[in-house]
Amino acid sequence: MTIFDKFQPLAAARQELEQHCDNFFNIVMQEIVSGTEAVVNGRPMILAGSNNYLGLSFDSACIDAACDAARKEGTGTTGSRMANGTFSGHVALEHELADFYNRLGAIVFSTGYVANLAMLSTLVGPGEIILLDADCHASIYDGCRMGGAEVHRFRHNDPQDLEKRLHRLEKRNTTVLIVVEGLYSMLGDRAPLAEIVAVKEKYGAYLLVDEAHSMGVLGANGRGLAEETGVEGGVDFIVGTFSKSLGAIGGFCVSDHPELNLVRYASRPYVFTASSSPSVVASTRMALKILREKSELRQRLWDNADMLYHKLQDLGFSMGPEPSPIIAIRLEDKAEAFALWSGLVERGVYVNLVLPPATPDGNCLLRSSVSAAHTPEQMKRICDAFTAVRQLTAMAHTA
Ligand SMILES: Cc1ncc(COP(=O)(O)O)c(C=O)c1O
Repeated sequence: MTIFDKFQPLAAARQELEQHCDNFFNIVMQEIVSGTEAVVNGRPMILAGSNNYLGLSFDSACIDAACDAARKEGTGTTGSRMANGTFSGHVALEHELADFYNRLGAIVFSTGYVANLAMLSTLVGPGEIILLDADCHASIYDGCRMGGAEVHRFRHNDPQDLEKRLHRLEKRNTTVLIVVEGLYSMLGDRAPLAEIVAVKEKYGAYLLVDEAHSMGVLGANGRGLAEETGVEGGVDFIVGTFSKSLGAIGGFCVSDHPELNLVRYASRPYVFTASSSPSVVASTRMALKILREKSELRQRLWDNADMLYHKLQDLGFSMGPEPSPIIAIRLEDKAEAFALWSGLVERGVYVNLVLPPATPDGNCLLRSSVSAAHTPEQMKRICDAFTAVRQLTAMAHTA
């Protein structure tokens, strides 16, 4: 018996994947050509699986801001936000985020994962209740577990199921926090936020919305699903990340609750990790400015999203429920998923292959995501690659 014996099922799954998908576990982006292209294992590839929604990871103003900050302030803060790790840039970014969302306050964390871990483990604890959508991201589940609150899942995007559970829990007379996402990360579908806010208000619960994938993507000003749905006033806490539309790394929470600041002092994931480096903070601040000023990026993103979604639908794939920059093909057959993924890689298009249990409904997913930075020519190459692999698997089915 060794300490690694429990990994045997993982080792078997890995072996199966390696047999069918060449180099699956050794994908290395050897040369990053732009926000949408890289040389991967020696092959030029269009990146159609990154969350670089506005294409800002290669924006020249963001890169200049990052380089300037590294020169002036060094490569890292080498400290926690609570000790020596709060530089003026962190404070300025918090003010800018609060201003963008029209909220009283903001807290910046080192990653989006840490933001969820921090907020969920701190806001609610033993004796209190979290009701979360079953399809929520792993960081939300981990935060819930860490805080020790009682956790109940409600059916994905089902406000009636949420209400039934709230009704049952009403007599417990304790704090309840509801947690949903704006755009769900695997299928790109939206939460029915107006109905969820109505239920939340009826039962006097709190609501946290993770807008990781909807910041910069939804809403007239890019503030996400709460803005697009017109229910910002009903959302107590918005969590987000800098690793998607803002093209960097980091996370945040904004809120109108004046007590938000107290979370800093009670939150282990805020206190016990180093703060974001000055270059990351500087590029994020610049990216936020661009997000606010250039709504045309959002338009370009949606043009690309609509185009790919409808193309894949026309090819007869089983798709996520609605167009969004996350475009997922659902596949019941693992062998078909492996063949499609490998065929796309051979044709120079990289998308993500996601397998159960990481998928919401037990199906395999080929999860693509588009960017405002994908050119019409790149979009055509992505569509052509899907057309070619579709023909291959259709032939295999009829053979
Ligand atoms: C919904 C959601 N929340 C949080 C995160 C974590 O963000 P990050 O990768 O920036 O730590 C992710 C990451 O994919 C996500 O999809």
